[in-house]
Amino acid sequence: MLSIIVAYDQHHGIGLKNTLPWKLSDDLKNFKKITENNYIVMGRKTFDSIGRPLPKRKNIILTKKQDYHQDKCIILHSIEQVLTLAKEKPHYEIFIIGGAEIYQQFLPFVDRLYITKVNAVQPADTFFPKWDKTQFKRIGNRHYKKDENNQFDFDFEVWEKKADLLQADDT
Ligand SMILES: NC(=O)c1ccc[n+]([C@@H]2O[C@H](COP(=O)([O-])OP(=O)(O)OC[C@H]3O[C@@H](n4cnc5c(N)ncnc54)[C@H](OP(=O)(O)O)[C@@H]3O)[C@@H](O)[C@H]2O)c1
Repeated sequence: MLSIIVAYDQHHGIGLKNTLPWKLSDDLKNFKKITENNYIVMGRKTFDSIGRPLPKRKNIILTKKQDYHQDKCIILHSIEQVLTLAKEKPHYEIFIIGGAEIYQQFLPFVDRLYITKVNAVQPADTFFPKWDKTQFKRIGNRHYKKDENNQFDFDFEVWEKKADLLQADDT
């Protein structure tokens, strides 16, 4: 299964100067719990912003640079290679973890979206694309209140592609 996991604000902002525009400790805990023991797929710029492979996950970095290398990471060079992997590993959930360039290209293919809606408008230079909610059904949500560890209120939501719109498996 292919899923997107993202945190965006009220203007769909996701990043500023290659960092996250907020501190939400409970959101990071959710991210860790959900993605552990699965594959995570990120653009090379998002990897640069994290700076290291995330533990207990298979880290995939997408780059066009053919000679790119990072220890303990799988390097892929196209969206199609990730789609093939998802078909080959049906027992794993493969998480597209950003950034904007990568989300944009995978949106048509994902089965599920895990969205943290941050209740704020922060300065941002990267944005999550507009997506068609009518193609998805919300299957879960939880509200989190701002506190000493979470800079803003936020809502964590899970959306699943409507069954009749799932990509037909042509294998
Ligand atoms: N709020 C969130 O949930 C969240 C999550 C993740 C990231 N972010 C933020 O998003 C920002 C980074 O996003 P971004 O859009 O600038 O960069 P990005 O999507 O992380 O990475 C872009 C890079 O990915 C590679 N790439 C893109 N399409 C490709 C393809 N089809 N095949 C192979 N490689 C491909 C290219 O790498 P090369 O240049 O090496 O070829 C490209 O420069 C940061 O501010 C980060 O903090 C936010």
